[in-house]
Amino acid sequence: MIAQQQSAQWVEIGSTDDLKDGRLVKRLGDRQVVVIESGGRLYALDNRCPHEGYPLAVGRVNDEACTLTCEWHNWKFALEDGSARFGEEGARAYPLRVDGGRILIDLTPPPVEDQMAERLASLREGLVNFETGRIAREAARLLDLGMLPAEVMRQGALHNAEREEYGWGHALAVIADCTSLAEFYPDEATVPTVRALFASADPVRRYAPRPTPASQPPTDPAGEREFRRRIETEDVDGAEALLAGAIESGAPTAEVARWLTHAATDHFLGFGHQMIYVHKLSQFAARVGWEPLMPLIPSLVPSIAWATRYDKLPEMRGYIAQLSDAESSFPALLAKQAAVAAGARWDSGRFRHRVLFGKHADAFEAVHAALGAGVALDDVARELVLAAAERMLRFDTAWETSHDEAVWDDGGWLEVTHLLTHANATRSLLAQGATPEVLRSLYHSAWFINDQKRFDRADGARADEAPLPLLEVAPEDVGPSLRESITVHDEPAALAHVRQWRRTELDRGPLYEALGREAVEADDGRFIIQAHVLKTCHAAIEESRLLNGHAEADLPLLAAVRFAATPRKQLAVYDQALNAARGTAPRPPRPARIDG
Ligand code: FES
Repeated sequence: MIAQQQSAQWVEIGSTDDLKDGRLVKRLGDRQVVVIESGGRLYALDNRCPHEGYPLAVGRVNDEACTLTCEWHNWKFALEDGSARFGEEGARAYPLRVDGGRILIDLTPPPVEDQMAERLASLREGLVNFETGRIAREAARLLDLGMLPAEVMRQGALHNAEREEYGWGHALAVIADCTSLAEFYPDEATVPTVRALFASADPVRRYAPRPTPASQPPTDPAGEREFRRRIETEDVDGAEALLAGAIESGAPTAEVARWLTHAATDHFLGFGHQMIYVHKLSQFAARVGWEPLMPLIPSLVPSIAWATRYDKLPEMRGYIAQLSDAESSFPALLAKQAAVAAGARWDSGRFRHRVLFGKHADAFEAVHAALGAGVALDDVARELVLAAAERMLRFDTAWETSHDEAVWDDGGWLEVTHLLTHANATRSLLAQGATPEVLRSLYHSAWFINDQKRFDRADGARADEAPLPLLEVAPEDVGPSLRESITVHDEPAALAHVRQWRRTELDRGPLYEALGREAVEADDGRFIIQAHVLKTCHAAIEESRLLNGHAEADLPLLAAVRFAATPRKQLAVYDQALNAARGTAPRPPRPARIDG
């Protein structure tokens, strides 16, 4: 948009006789202007301090420096142009002239584009230094100027993607979730926007931009094969250059997405994170379009290339052998899908039982047999989502308070939540394009859900099947009441809200809204914890909606609510210290877990 020069709007706001102690305050509609005398000249500033809104008219003038100091927190502004001399943002200054004793100021607002550019520049400085107040204020100003919330969040995403040392990480997942959860803030878009911006800046505060390779347009029509080869050999620069080149040369977005999805399934990566991130990319693109996200897509490359390849560990050896044997049948399994009907009857109960409680090989066989029998792909993927949710309801939260060295090393709540988010990502990416490569993620998911049975409660109980309190909550109060029980970590009450709601014919909207808002506003710990609360709640809402009408549509919600409502290990100071101290003592390495 071209900036339009607007004609001046000179307004008389008083006379020089009205000045008292060199000050004059004038209300003009919804704003106040303060005229200040310094060194024999008059200056006009907005009377609201840009920091917290206190009146600048009360401030202190320094004639020599030609500045005004706000008394509340000492920010200093140049009287000439309002720029900040100390503090984070400047105040708006108005052109002023005196005509025969009359004081006139020009209220012409700068073109919106100029204002946005100024606000964005200030936001970027705030992001670099992780100045939370400044970030929040600039976000609010940009939204006031008419920038869409998703666009403000995208600015944060660009900032983060440029700096993350190992590429796309949790911050970008949080931002993608916030663009989506903004649906619960029709009148308060600043809240998810600020959450997204904080997430974008927190992990990379004061980081310099990550060096990136020059793009390299693919010359080979089989660019994907070369891209995956480079990822396989951890030629990160080479792979990133190739992907950036493909994007620049106009490769269709579906192709770019396919390269990434296939690369993310070449191994079982990073406890499912990389599949989750690829899913978040497509979720983000659904909100803002693919084009604006192109600059940050290459940041997925280091994330995928450097992720831990869990399938290389001894505990996955047996599974990988099974997978290798089965892969040649995948094209035929997919071809069979053309003739299957979603929702056809099958023994989903037995399937889930094998995935949850069988040996690793049983979980694999359950998936393979279901696909071989012609069960619809999405039905299998959906059942894995339900199995993941059930495992979360069986998780023994005592692990979160345990100081057992083995337990701490092997994981806990955060790891178990990936069962749901990974199953959710797999289901979504399969729905976008079922290929033999993506099909592998279904098997990975089954293995993963099965493997985490070691964190189940020893008594075999499910948290949502324990006696839960009977609640007397009016429909209009269910959201606030659920959030209250999450805040005070009252797990039974939190679960009871979902259970009781299920027995009614009432719309699940208030439950989604309560959980979505709780996830966005969660403020109880480290960034990494908040990121997991967000993505778990988001996945639960997404899956519950997809399960609409299913008898267990609330299972993902129960799982996410349980995670949100129970205490979570934060820094684990004691455990980290103990592990480190023991790690320095001479002793044999930890025994490897074996497949089973
Ligand atoms: S309100 Fe002016 S410096 Fe804080």
